[in-house]
Formats: sequence, C-alpha cells, structure tokens
Amino acid sequence: FSCGVVLVAAGRGERAGQSAEGPKQYRRIGNRPVIAHTLDVFATWPGTGPVVVVMHPDDEALLAAALERMGDSLAVSVVHGGATRQLSVLAGLEALARTGVKHAMIQDAVRPFIDHALLDRCRAALDGGAEAVLPAIAVADTLKRATDGRIVEETVPRGGLYAAQTPQCFRLEAILAAHRAASASGRSDFTDDASIAEWAGIPVVLVEGSSDNIKLTLQRDISMADERLTRHAL
Ligand code: C5P
Repeated sequence: FSCGVVLVAAGRGERAGQSAEGPKQYRRIGNRPVIAHTLDVFATWPGTGPVVVVMHPDDEALLAAALERMGDSLAVSVVHGGATRQLSVLAGLEALARTGVKHAMIQDAVRPFIDHALLDRCRAALDGGAEAVLPAIAVADTLKRATDGRIVEETVPRGGLYAAQTPQCFRLEAILAAHRAASASGRSDFTDDASIAEWAGIPVVLVEGSSDNIKLTLQRDISMADERLTRHAL
C-alpha cells in the first residue's frame, strides 16, 4: 500500500533567526531549499502516495519556487496551516483524507535527512498492523534537569528514554479522529503527533530512527546541513 504524506511547512522558524531567503524550510542547503530536499526523498520512494504540503499564506512564492524543480513525480496539493504545528497538521490531514488514502506519514519540512530505509521501516510497522509508528533514537547524552536554566537540580535517568523524530506514521482515520478530538477539547499545543495518539489512547510503536535525521532548528543547524551537502557533492 502507499502512504499519503503531510509535509508541515507553515512555521515561521523564528529560532533560526531572520534570513532574506525566508523561513528555515526555504533556506538553501546544498544550493536547494530545505523543503525540496525533504520532498525529493518522498518523490523517489516507491511507497509515496498523495502529498499535502501545509504552508503559511505568506510563503506562496517561496513554495512555488521550491516546487518548480520537482517535476511531476509527486501528486502535491497545498493547504494553509494554522497558528501551531498541531493545527497545521490537522489542516493537512483533513486534505489528505479527501484523497481516500488509508495511511499518513506526517513529516517536518525541516528534516531533510530522512532516507528510504527509514521510510521502509515505518511502512513495515504499519503493514504489521500498528496504528501509530514513531521513529526514535535512544537518548545518548546524560540528562540534567535545571528548571531555571542555571543550576542543576538532578540527573534524569536516561534508560528507556527516546528522542522522537518524523515521519510519524498512522492509520489516517485513527490519527485524524484523535487530532479532531484534541482540537475540539481546546488543545493546540501538542508538539508532535505521537503525543496526540498517546493522548487518545492509541498505542504508539517505536521503530529505529536515524541519527542523521536532525531537525533544522537553529542557524547553526542550517550551516552544518549546508556544509554536509556541499562536502558530499565534491
Ligand atoms: O517549530 P518547529 O521546529 O517545531 O516546527 C516543526 C515543523 O512544523 C516545521 O516544518 C514547521 O514549518 C512546521 N510548523 C507548521 N505550522 C506551525 C508551526 C510549525 O507547519 N504553525
């Protein structure tokens, strides 16, 4: 079966600072916008179904420019996002549901280093009957809690702790119902979709993430990503 994709790209990327190129998903790394790299991975993966890109209404020209070089390999539709990531995903899921596809991969535009093996692991877990699939990696660093950001209160045991990545993958009907219920209950602050599944009582199955699959958050991340792609191209 093929998986529909919701690619969320409606954020303002304020933590990465201002740039003439626009929000971080449109910044150029390896000479192409971040979002074009992310979309490329889906465009070349045999399991990809319909794709919904969720954009900010101000970014029309930026997205059109990024999609220009994508060719016709993907069936992409575009919808406007909301004030939080959660609301942007919900808008994307509503649009994806109209295509009739049964499974959804929800992906941050700002994670361009996903790969086909990761997508294969996610789809295999869906194929095995999972309703919700979360790629994650075991936390490697020792964790400290410092509520005031200054003085350490305690060391948090890292056993059993995982860092969540995307794409988070779901049976579409199940996650759409959970998202609708979350927003109807007044919540709009869930920072990922697995946490909405957890909130709704849907079991979330872990699959191995990828240490390359970083989220470009700060200016430093974008510079490192650009260096990495430029070096690979040599
Ligand atoms: O802000 P954060 O790094 O968590 O954003 C993760 C992803 O969610 C980004 O791709 C961003 O464009 C998207 N997002 C969105 N709508 C928002 C906020 C974030 O689509 N209102």
